[in-house]
Amino acid sequence: MRWWAALKNPEMVLSMLSHNKRVQNDLNPAANPWRTQAPPKRLRWRPQLSFAASVVVIAWLVHPAFGNPAQVTNLFQPLSQPAQEIKEVSLLVLAICAAIFLIVVGLLVYAIVRFRHRPGDEASEPPQVYGSNQIELAWTVLPILIVFVLILVTSRTIADIQNRKPPPGAVQATVVGHQWWWEIRYPELGIVTANELHVPASTGNSRQPTFLKLQSADVAHSFWVPQLAGKTDLIPNRENRMWIEPTNPGIYLGNCAEYCGTQHARMLIRVVVQSPDEFDRWVRDQQQATSPATNAAEGRKAFLANSCINCHTIRGTSARGKFGPDLTHLMSRETLAAGVVPNTADNLRLWVRDPQKIKVGCLMPNMQMTDQEVDQLVAYLETLK
Ligand code: CUA
Repeated sequence: MRWWAALKNPEMVLSMLSHNKRVQNDLNPAANPWRTQAPPKRLRWRPQLSFAASVVVIAWLVHPAFGNPAQVTNLFQPLSQPAQEIKEVSLLVLAICAAIFLIVVGLLVYAIVRFRHRPGDEASEPPQVYGSNQIELAWTVLPILIVFVLILVTSRTIADIQNRKPPPGAVQATVVGHQWWWEIRYPELGIVTANELHVPASTGNSRQPTFLKLQSADVAHSFWVPQLAGKTDLIPNRENRMWIEPTNPGIYLGNCAEYCGTQHARMLIRVVVQSPDEFDRWVRDQQQATSPATNAAEGRKAFLANSCINCHTIRGTSARGKFGPDLTHLMSRETLAAGVVPNTADNLRLWVRDPQKIKVGCLMPNMQMTDQEVDQLVAYLETLK
């Protein structure tokens, strides 16, 4: 029998698939009590009801994540290469998988409805067919071809993205993952900052991609800004690379995407995409050393006298610590504690008094300062523009 003739007679395919079980059940009717006795009515709806209940519960648990669309960065709205390229290949893969899903579920529903249990079925046996080379060949070769297509398009995209060479003039930055913040260095520009990666937008004629080197100071992290690029891990003792080429100025939100400890969920990254002119202005501002704070001398003294300097750097002072974020231009950043709270004087005061209240488990301890010291210190920090 040709394979399409077999497909026209699904009863035959089904009996091929299930004949072993069926023979067993025939020999031992007790193994399949439903064959001789319909289930009690109230039992029949139980699986459907519990499925519906699970859907409601899961939807209820998940809905807060979608409550504020402004906070959800949409994977399907890429605004940069290589995110655009990744989206295209994802859509192709999703379409192929959706087609397979629809065919399989369609056949399944057809078989369930067409061959459901009917009164009188016990008396007769459906046709018994044992094996068909054509069918077996078809359902082996077709999936191999499909998987081959998926491998080809995916590996082409991956190679395309990974082999991209930085054009002359591309911005180079190094991102170092820490528990739980991002150190950002521009070695060629002499800039060190934290948690906010500034990059120029690529405009029509002037292509300005940014190439990133990714490192980790402690455990594995993962850099992910969904609208700009795919995820790339930051692994201790290893350097990974990635690049982005956004075209629209704006702020793009991302998050650490590899569990890295207590505050993994609040290790946020902001990518600030600026027009080339604005980016140049930002670079010039960041390159300047801070001016000696004449009106916050007390706070400056308190900062330099405390163990703040063991962890933080402020260029132009004796503070050269490397464990915490560089504070040279602290006030140029929009948030504190890797995106946890806005960088305002009030939050800065709360943070300096007891960082653990804002970010439990973070590595900055409560320095046990007096109210007066906190006020002086914050006054000094506010001069670091
Ligand atoms: Cu860093 Cu998760």
